[in-house]
Amino acid sequence: MKKSLVLMVSLLVVLLLSVTGCSSAQKDKAAPSADKQLKIGIVQIVEHPSLNTIREACVAQLAKDGFKDGENIVIDYQNAQGDQTNLKTICQKFANNKYDMIIAIATPSAQAAIGETSTIPVVFSACTDPVGSGLVTNLEKPGKNVTGTSDAVSAEKIMELAKRITPDIKTIGALYSSSETNSISVVNNLKEYAKKNGMTVVEATITNSSEAQQAASSLAGKVDAMFSPIDNTVASAMPIVAQVANKAKIPYYVGADSMVKDGGLATFGINYTVLGQETANMAAEILNGKKPGDIAVKTMTDIDIYINQATADAIGVKIPDDVKKEAKQIFTK
Ligand code: TRP
Repeated sequence: MKKSLVLMVSLLVVLLLSVTGCSSAQKDKAAPSADKQLKIGIVQIVEHPSLNTIREACVAQLAKDGFKDGENIVIDYQNAQGDQTNLKTICQKFANNKYDMIIAIATPSAQAAIGETSTIPVVFSACTDPVGSGLVTNLEKPGKNVTGTSDAVSAEKIMELAKRITPDIKTIGALYSSSETNSISVVNNLKEYAKKNGMTVVEATITNSSEAQQAASSLAGKVDAMFSPIDNTVASAMPIVAQVANKAKIPYYVGADSMVKDGGLATFGINYTVLGQETANMAAEILNGKKPGDIAVKTMTDIDIYINQATADAIGVKIPDDVKKEAKQIFTK
């Protein structure tokens, strides 16, 4: 009886010890990885389909590269809703809280991020003109704490496509945001092209998306075609702007596939899913120890034709068969 009591007590002690031992071992294991969670701020200027595609592709690829949200990294995603003041507040918060990295989607976000920190790595995404926008001085060797991806496509390329679809363009209306440096350089390129090819550019600039409809209407009736670069402000008002152009039966050439999907007629554009993935790969290299300034800015070189057939039908334009054959995607609504 005594013996069995001693046995029971000692068994209980062993059991208790093993339970507490086990749980403290688990805590020991969990604690360091929680400490090591890297904080990544993602800042996006505005909500539009292309930027959302980029962000989703980037986060998915980061996970594939070994950086999973909620495990070894914590992602704090903030959208500025098209407001510069919000951009500043968001980036200030990222900097003050000493985040380990800022991923900035689109040019205005990147400009805000580099304005707040010169030490935290900033990986910009889809910035059309990183040098002209003051993000880096050298694409090959950016230096400092900044690098990223660019979606630069020349206006000339898009206009060559425009000429194949609607050869009789003499006047072209450029609708863009005067505060987006990413758009200004492309419109300058458009003006050069027009000059060389005996065309006239009529400009309509906006400062926020609520002005887009009226600006588009001001061009209708004055021009043979419309053009918008890869402009965030226009892209976020795209369905309305396209409606104006299509009602006036004006072919509207744009800078990105999403803008064609949203009602523009055609573009020569890059693949933003791939761009998002490339942004993540650069971010992963930096999280693994590389210096941002040592990584060259990556410009996407594969460009494809995107057409909106519903728009073509609505404005009575026939897309030549050879253009259709070359197109990567033809949207039908
Ligand atoms: N290139 C734009 C910039 O530099 C961002 C962007 C990416 C964009 N995809 C787009 C803008 C599609 C309009 C439409 O800010």
